[in-house]
Amino acid sequence: MRSTALPLGLALGLLVSAPELTPAWALDTARLPVKSGDFSFNGPFGTYDRAALQRGFQVYKEVCAACHGLDHIAFHNLDEAGGPGFTEPQAKAIAAGYKLPADPNDKGEINDDKGNRLTRPGILADKFPPPFPNEEAARANNSGMLPPDLSMIEKAREGGADYVYSIAYGFNMAPPKGFKVTDGKYYNPYFEGWNIAMPPPLVDNAVTYSDGTKATVAQEAHDVATFLAWASDTKMEERKRMGFAVLIFLVVLSGLLFAAYRKVWADLH
Ligand code: HEC
Repeated sequence: MRSTALPLGLALGLLVSAPELTPAWALDTARLPVKSGDFSFNGPFGTYDRAALQRGFQVYKEVCAACHGLDHIAFHNLDEAGGPGFTEPQAKAIAAGYKLPADPNDKGEINDDKGNRLTRPGILADKFPPPFPNEEAARANNSGMLPPDLSMIEKAREGGADYVYSIAYGFNMAPPKGFKVTDGKYYNPYFEGWNIAMPPPLVDNAVTYSDGTKATVAQEAHDVATFLAWASDTKMEERKRMGFAVLIFLVVLSGLLFAAYRKVWADLH
């Protein structure tokens, strides 16, 4: 017993006294608490910032859509009340910019002479097409990991918009000593386990904003997190408005009931 206790004690002592030698297995790699994005839509009366929604859509379309789908969202959602505020012609033009698999042509074919899938331009009723034809292709292109669909990600993950903001913005830190970034992965402490298979998607000026906003990484992360908040809760503004109306109704009703109560009892005295 004694002969093993001493080396064990020594080893433990070393671990405690020299934290820079802490091996990766001794680090707690639970994801860090999210960084707050201070979003306009927080709180009971918060609404989406339309300009941020449109910029965030641009970031999704030009950057994230290469790997992540948005399969709950249809092009007609883009011009609906409570959304990014595109006009119908704008939403139509956005849809038409996408190529979707076409129905069989009059000869019953779905491929052209070269074996490529026949396509047609998107219409308002279509949903955003997935970036990969199937899960195997998605994994094959991403070192075996699956880029999840982003349309519901902010409902699915604790932290919501702040989580997406933190992940998109959180690639700029050096890993602590003793933490080994797995080959083919990247360090991001806001992701569970800290090793993420997503290459840092954002750089300064990854997109050029037409409204003149400076496209820093923080701005792009903030905008895309706003857009994805709307994607996972397209009816938020309507719901908040309705909640407020119900509240006012209840206040007025309470006043009326109280007045009626006073009147009834006044007569009885
Ligand atoms: C080159 C492909 C690629 C691009 C481009 C990309 N991602 Fe990813 N993303 C991935 C992969 C792969 C994963 C899964 C990582 C893992 O499981 O290790 C991922 C994971 C994520 C996660 C974490 C999901 C979870 O399960 O919690 C978020 C959030 C995310 N991506 C957001 C974005 C946003 C926002 C953009 C655009 C700014 C973007 N990604 C661009 C490949 C990509």
